[in-house]
Amino acid sequence: MKTNQFYVVVAILFAVCVLGIHHYMAYICPTCNDHVDSMGHVAPISHGVSNIRLTTDVEKVPVRHPVSSIQPTTSRKTVSHFKDVPDMTLTVRMSSNVASLLNFFFCTMLRSLTLYWSGQLGNLGLILDKESQEDHKFAENIQKYQKQLGINMSFYYEPLPKNKRVLTVVKGRSHGYNRQLYSSFIMDKFISTPIVAWIDTDGKFTTPVARDNILTGNKLRVKGMDTFQYSWLKSWNRFTERMIGKPMPSDFMTYFPVYIWRDTITNCRNYILKYLNVSTIEEAYIQVGSQEPTAPVSSVNIIMTYAFYFEKERYDWHIDIGNVDLQKYNKLHLIPGHELTSPDLTPDFHVTLHDKYYKDDKNIVNRQAYCAAVNNTVLNMEHNIKQMCEPFKTNEMWVLFEFCNKVKQEHLTTWCKNKNKHCSSMIKEHYDKTRQLVNKGVYNLDLKKLTLVEEAAKFHNVKCQPFM
Ligand SMILES: *[C@@H]1O[C@H](CO)[C@@H](O)[C@H](O)[C@H]1NC(C)=O
Ligand SMILES: *[C@@H]1O[C@H](CO)[C@@H](O)[C@H](O)[C@H]1NC(C)=O
Ligand SMILES: *[C@@H]1O[C@H](CO)[C@@H](O)[C@H](O)[C@H]1NC(C)=O
Repeated sequence: MKTNQFYVVVAILFAVCVLGIHHYMAYICPTCNDHVDSMGHVAPISHGVSNIRLTTDVEKVPVRHPVSSIQPTTSRKTVSHFKDVPDMTLTVRMSSNVASLLNFFFCTMLRSLTLYWSGQLGNLGLILDKESQEDHKFAENIQKYQKQLGINMSFYYEPLPKNKRVLTVVKGRSHGYNRQLYSSFIMDKFISTPIVAWIDTDGKFTTPVARDNILTGNKLRVKGMDTFQYSWLKSWNRFTERMIGKPMPSDFMTYFPVYIWRDTITNCRNYILKYLNVSTIEEAYIQVGSQEPTAPVSSVNIIMTYAFYFEKERYDWHIDIGNVDLQKYNKLHLIPGHELTSPDLTPDFHVTLHDKYYKDDKNIVNRQAYCAAVNNTVLNMEHNIKQMCEPFKTNEMWVLFEFCNKVKQEHLTTWCKNKNKHCSSMIKEHYDKTRQLVNKGVYNLDLKKLTLVEEAAKFHNVKCQPFM
């Protein structure tokens, strides 16, 4: 090897080392550049109840990446079937002071997630009101159940916003509601996993969640739907335009969980601050809120609209534009250079439905869902379950293509018109996958967990209707 070649090689090795060390330092010291952004006065992450191992949480904070890059898979510490899936937190903004929220939380969300959300995918993370004694008690009560339920829980306590106008700026909405909307823009201050899997307290899981429901390759799946016919979409769209200067390409408040790269939230917030020339997200919320004092706001739409315009390559888009012609849709809703293309319109199904807006008087969905999940697995069904499942023997889970039915949000008249073969085979493929997960014990479908949740609910005077 000639001397100058030798020096070139040494120089390259040196550069690689420096980069490697830099990367490693960023990894072990993520807080060095985190939580000190322009939000300034928002309180630091406050880990509440003792089960949270701060060091682990901090270790899991991902390295900041430039917007266009794909997140690496992480550093999972737990033995997991989902080894190549970045760690995530199933994130709920909860307040135990509201009776209806408690009811949905226990009876709808927690019961269904103990069956169909694997603790191996990630913890359940609850963001609570810091000043509320009830919320602290609530956390203490439910964390006792995490081991038996097979899902670890993390609790985060969000202080009241400094500027109380945040709580009143959107008129006709309660303080709690305003706070929750505002809170969505700072979730990344609390959640430290690379993925935030965001769900409302009234989200109900209807099937075990598989890897493919979350990611396509390394891109997070997004679902959207054309619901622009509804009156509230106009206000959501106006609010979104005022916050980030771009129109909503679709309605993203049409599925749960909404999987978001944690740093998309950070990037979105920083963008809003720049766009509105303000120094805190509180100011931004108040400024736009007072221009739109009666407008409903949809934080999820603001964040996912941001993701669409600025981080499109990090997500895999499944947007149902109904039976409208694509060119026409683009003219109506998109701006030049950002048009939807046919790969963005690929069908996808739901793993949850929106219980508050889904009428199921005879409680059929839970039974049907359980029977489909347990069907042809190695699990031994008890006699009464076998009997319960008898009527659903030939049932296909078309409910996976619905989200709400009180307001129409489904794909049975669009993507899956006439219950077509394509959609039917998607259902079948999905259950082929979940059957593997059940057979490997990733999902045990143990109904005893429902009883535990019901017991936890009783502590808060919540009595759940029978699940099945
Ligand atoms: C929950 O946390 C415990 C203790 O840290 C850990 O051993 C266990 O593997 C975790 N369970 C899951 C499902 O992640
Ligand atoms: C942004 O706000 C600052 C202080 O409020 C002001 O001095 C500055 O002129 C503003 N910049 C723009 C571009 O409006
Ligand atoms: C159970 O599985 C069989 C074979 O895979 C299928 O034909 C049947 O429709 C399934 N039943 C339900 C309720 O999903």
